[in-house]
Amino acid sequence: MKILKYVTITTAFFFITFSNAQSSIKVSLMEDAEAPIVSKHIYGHFAEHLGRCIYEGLYVGEENKLIPNTAGVRNDIIEALKELDIPNLRWPGGCFADTYHWKDGVGPKEDRPTMVNRWWGGTTEDNSFGTHNFLNLCEVLGAEPYLSANVGSGTVQELIDWVQYTNHDGISPMADWRRENGREEPWKVKYWGVGNETWGCGGNMTAEYYADIYRQYATFMPGWSGETEVYRIASGASEDDYHWTETLMKNVPHELMEAVALHDYAVFDWSDKGPSVNFDKEVYFKSMEQALKMEEYVTKHIEIMDKYDPEGNVDLFVDEWGGWYDAEEEVKNGVLFQQNTIRDVMIAGTVLNTFNNHARRVKMANLAQMVNVLQAVILTDEEKMIKTPTYHVMHMYKVHHDAKLVPSTIKENPQYRGLPVLSVSASKDETGKIHISLVNIDPEKDMPVEFDIAGLGIKNIKGQLLTSDKLQDHNSFDEPEKVTPKEFKGAKLKKDKISLTIPAHSLIVLQGEYK
Ligand code: AHR
Repeated sequence: MKILKYVTITTAFFFITFSNAQSSIKVSLMEDAEAPIVSKHIYGHFAEHLGRCIYEGLYVGEENKLIPNTAGVRNDIIEALKELDIPNLRWPGGCFADTYHWKDGVGPKEDRPTMVNRWWGGTTEDNSFGTHNFLNLCEVLGAEPYLSANVGSGTVQELIDWVQYTNHDGISPMADWRRENGREEPWKVKYWGVGNETWGCGGNMTAEYYADIYRQYATFMPGWSGETEVYRIASGASEDDYHWTETLMKNVPHELMEAVALHDYAVFDWSDKGPSVNFDKEVYFKSMEQALKMEEYVTKHIEIMDKYDPEGNVDLFVDEWGGWYDAEEEVKNGVLFQQNTIRDVMIAGTVLNTFNNHARRVKMANLAQMVNVLQAVILTDEEKMIKTPTYHVMHMYKVHHDAKLVPSTIKENPQYRGLPVLSVSASKDETGKIHISLVNIDPEKDMPVEFDIAGLGIKNIKGQLLTSDKLQDHNSFDEPEKVTPKEFKGAKLKKDKISLTIPAHSLIVLQGEYK
C-alpha cells in the first residue's frame, strides 16, 4: 500500500515535470558569423505635417513662453527622444510631401507663403516649420534626417535645388541662399525619398510609369554634395503589391537606387478601423492578424529583391508602419490622433522582431508617426506630455541598435486562433551582451518558454517586462505611468538553458552577460 502510494506520487511528480517541460515553447539561439548587423535605422521615426504632429506637438513656436522650447521645439520632447537614441527621422510626409514646396519654408517667416494641407483636413499651413527647423532639430537629436521629396507636384529642378541647398559646401546659388538664411555649413543630408506612395496620394502612377520618373529624378540627385553619399529611396509598394517591387527592381538600374520602400499599416478594414482603446477581443485578433502579415510581406518582397539583386546592393526600407485606428473624436484638431495600448506593444514588439530577423535586407524602418499621430511614441496636450507604451518598446529594444543578429528558431510555436503566439529576435552587442526580445500575443495564456543557448556563454541573465492587466490599458495625461517597463526576475539560467514564463499579452527583453 505504502509502496503503491509512493509510486503514485512519484508518477504524478514525473508527469507534472514532464508535461511542463513538454508545454514549454523551445527556442534555439545560435550565433552565426555570417549573420547581419541589425541596423539602428530599423528604429527610425516619421513626422509629417499632419494633425498635431508638427504644430502643437513637436513645434510650439519660438515665441512660446508657456512651453519650454529650444528654437520652438518642445524641450520635454527633445529629452524624451534623446533617451530613445532615435537614429533617423523622416519628414515632411507622407502624402503631405508630394504637395510640399520646400522653398516656401525657408527665409524670413513673415515672407513665407501659406498653403492648404489638402490631404490632412484642409488646414492652412503657414510654413513656419521648414527645412532649417527640421535639420537643426535632427542635429540636436543626433538623428540622420530623411527628406521625402516632392515628385507628385514638384519638379526635378526643385529636388536638385533642395539637395544643393542642404548639402553643397562650395559657392552656388542654393548654398549661398542657405548662408543668407543663417546656416554656413551644409547639413549633409544622406537619405532622400523620391516621392511617397506614388501609386496613391503621390500621383496615382503605375509602377512602370513611376520607374521611369524615378530614373529621371535619381539621375540628377548626386554630385552636389562633395563627399556626402546621397542615398536615393524609391517610393515603394503597399503591403503585398509585389508587382510594384518587381517592376522597380527590373526597370531601374541598381546604381540609381540605394533602397526601395515598403508601407504596411496594421489595418484590417480601411472603412472601419475600430477604436484605439475600447476594442474587443475580436478586434484585437484582427489587428494582430494584420500586424503579423509584416513577416510574409517582408519575406516575399525580399525574395523578389534577391532575384534581381543577389548581391544585396539595394536595401528595403519599411518607411511607414504601425497601428492605425479611428481617430479620437473628442480631441480638438485631432486629425489621426489615437491612443496607444498594450495592443500597440504587441504590434511594435512583433513587427520589430520581424525587421531584426530580416536585417540582411531591411536596413531602415520608420514608425508612423512620432508625436500625436497614429502609433505615436509621444502624446501631448498643451503643456502636458506623456510617453506611450510604444515609446517603452522602442526604449527596451534600443539594445538591438547596430548589434549582430543571433538567429533564433522557434520549434512548434503554439497558436492563438491560427496566429503564432510567440515572436522572438536576438542580437549580440559590441560588448558581448546578448539581448533577446520576446512577445506573447495570446490575450489570456501565459507561455512557458525554454531557450537553448548552448555556445553563447551566458553566465548571468536579467530582464524587463512590459505588460498590464488589460489589453486596453494605456497611459493617459491623468495616469502617465500606467504602462511602464518593470524588472523581470522570472528567467532562470541553468547550464545551456534559459527558462521563463512570459505572461499573456506581454513583452520581455532579456539581457545575458558573460559574467
Ligand atoms: O502616415 C499617414 C499617411 O499614411 C501618410 O501620409 C501616407 O504616406 C500613408 O498613406
